[in-house]
Amino acid sequence: MAVSLIQPHDPVLLISEEGKRYLVFVEPGQAWYTNRGRLAYDAIIGRPYGQVAETHLGQRFLILRPTLSDLIQHLKRTTQIIYPKDAARLVMELDLMDGKRIIEAGTGSGGLTLAFARAVLPHGKVYSYELRPEHQRVARRNLERLGLLPYVELKLRDIAEGFDETEVDAVFLDAREAARFVPQAQAALAESGLFAALQPTVNQVSQVVAALEQGDFVEIRVEEVLIRAWKPVPERLRPADRMIAHTGFLIFARKLDARYRYFWLDKRARRRATEFGKIKNLPPIQGH
Ligand SMILES: C[S@@+](CC[C@H](N)C(=O)[O-])C[C@H]1O[C@@H](n2cnc3c(N)ncnc32)[C@H](O)[C@@H]1O
Repeated sequence: MAVSLIQPHDPVLLISEEGKRYLVFVEPGQAWYTNRGRLAYDAIIGRPYGQVAETHLGQRFLILRPTLSDLIQHLKRTTQIIYPKDAARLVMELDLMDGKRIIEAGTGSGGLTLAFARAVLPHGKVYSYELRPEHQRVARRNLERLGLLPYVELKLRDIAEGFDETEVDAVFLDAREAARFVPQAQAALAESGLFAALQPTVNQVSQVVAALEQGDFVEIRVEEVLIRAWKPVPERLRPADRMIAHTGFLIFARKLDARYRYFWLDKRARRRATEFGKIKNLPPIQGH
């Protein structure tokens, strides 16, 4: 592959000699100002990634092409953002690929939106709902700078009012009290569509699971993604001292028509579904 050179407006990851990481967009004629000196972007534009640049005070930075994980962690944010470990799991479990249509709420700073957009482009679409204009503005700017806006429709709306789209392949909820929005997600999903939510506390998770059970959902799962980093020192290889212990719980489910849903449920869930009145006129369950 030919060496790709850094283009005007590109995102660039700068790493200091102490390992501090900064994400910048190299705008022609502008510069990055830090207490380590000024770095003119024109001195970076046109060079290959993987080199070292110096500020006018002689401080050196490695210039690298940012990965999706770097972008998510270092983009401008006004909200709590998704962690790359959770974003990766969601892209996998929501089965996102070119052409898929997914609803996401709330947009927040757009960290997850960009992971979803990169997964479904060029023929798919992310419909991303947000309540607060100031968050949407930040997300729009982040997506625009990365050239991902054509694959995203940003909507300003309280999702309690429902979604505009129907027959979508997937819905992801990252908003407080996600349980309240499960019926809206169900209405938007295609048959067999995939649902996911991220919730920080177990009581919220219980409420989402109960709402899914009361709706037309099967294959309900709750997960945590834990990554334990290791110190990569060959002669003293061991886990790092610290880890991110908690970000949120992930809840997954799949929409299924109530008539067929019965056959997927285990006995406990069948009994609960019968109690909720969702299963009617079916033969008695064996063993009850
Ligand atoms: C934790 S942030 C989402 C972070 C996002 N996933 C990211 O990676 O940047 C939750 C967002 O949901 C929005 N929100 C909360 N309730 C909402 C609602 N009912 N309708 C639409 N958006 C909502 C909040 O304003 C906030 O921006």
